[in-house]
Amino acid sequence: MTTPPAQAISVRGLEKSYKDLKVLKGVHFEVARGSIFALLGSNGAGKTTVVRILATLLTGDAGAARVNGFDVAAQPARVRESISLTGQFAAVDEILTGRENLVMVARLRHLKDPGAIADDLLRRFSLTDAGGRRVGTYSGGMRRRLDIAMSLIGNPPVIFLDEPTTGLDPQARIEVWQSVKELAAHGTTVLLTTQYLDEAEHLADRIAILHEGRIIVNGTLAELKRLLPPAKVEYVEKQPTLEDVFLSLVGADPKDPR
Ligand SMILES: Nc1ncnc2c1ncn2[C@@H]1O[C@H](COP(=O)(O)OP(=O)(O)OP(=O)(O)O)[C@@H](O)[C@H]1O
Ligand SMILES: [Mg+2]
Repeated sequence: MTTPPAQAISVRGLEKSYKDLKVLKGVHFEVARGSIFALLGSNGAGKTTVVRILATLLTGDAGAARVNGFDVAAQPARVRESISLTGQFAAVDEILTGRENLVMVARLRHLKDPGAIADDLLRRFSLTDAGGRRVGTYSGGMRRRLDIAMSLIGNPPVIFLDEPTTGLDPQARIEVWQSVKELAAHGTTVLLTTQYLDEAEHLADRIAILHEGRIIVNGTLAELKRLLPPAKVEYVEKQPTLEDVFLSLVGADPKDPR
């Protein structure tokens, strides 16, 4: 057996245009195995475009990308076997219970003992008590957690979460964050996109900012904070937040849609 590559995701010189609109102009980044990587950017920066190319749903115009060691252009089937993608809209069936949804997906993937797989995931995502209830009765946070749990069936080594908490209330967001941390603790590599800077701050091992077609910074939260000198007010030192760093680099309000 060949040893798995150290990088779960590697993107080099990725370019993509939609007609005359050049969205990606040479994107480079790498994501270490078992880590959580956050791709930040304003509306329309190209985050979903990057995720769709990595998930083989879209082809890039130039550059190369590998996921789990496989080239997205040359080995798309191997890439698809290695990943799961959870978008903003949950793929859960409302009529079924949470447990039935999980069992159904495990059956579709021809896995042994779907019931045990379902029970294990319900436990990991704190849904054991809700598992017997119809999904139609779940809160937004519970649905999103079930959606993430469903995407883990078959143990894909790499998971893409495109804005996993958009539209959720603060409590539900914290629940989803716990689930994402739980994924990484089990060795899954997570690439998440978000417009919530506090989400990246809480979750990510590394944070990259996509702006005007390129990754303009990529580092740990501590490294990003060092880009701005702390503001000194009398004798109290105020550390910059990720939001301060983002705004100083991007020069716009990330919550202000263009
Ligand atoms: N299929 C398409 N055809 C034409 N233009 C597109 C298409 N998909 C995306 N775009 C444009 O490409 C740019 C990047 O879109 P993308 O969805 O990747 O951004 P994003 O960073 O995910 O934004 P958001 O934060 O709003 O989700 C936007 O200007 C968008 O309008
Ligand atoms: Mg998007």
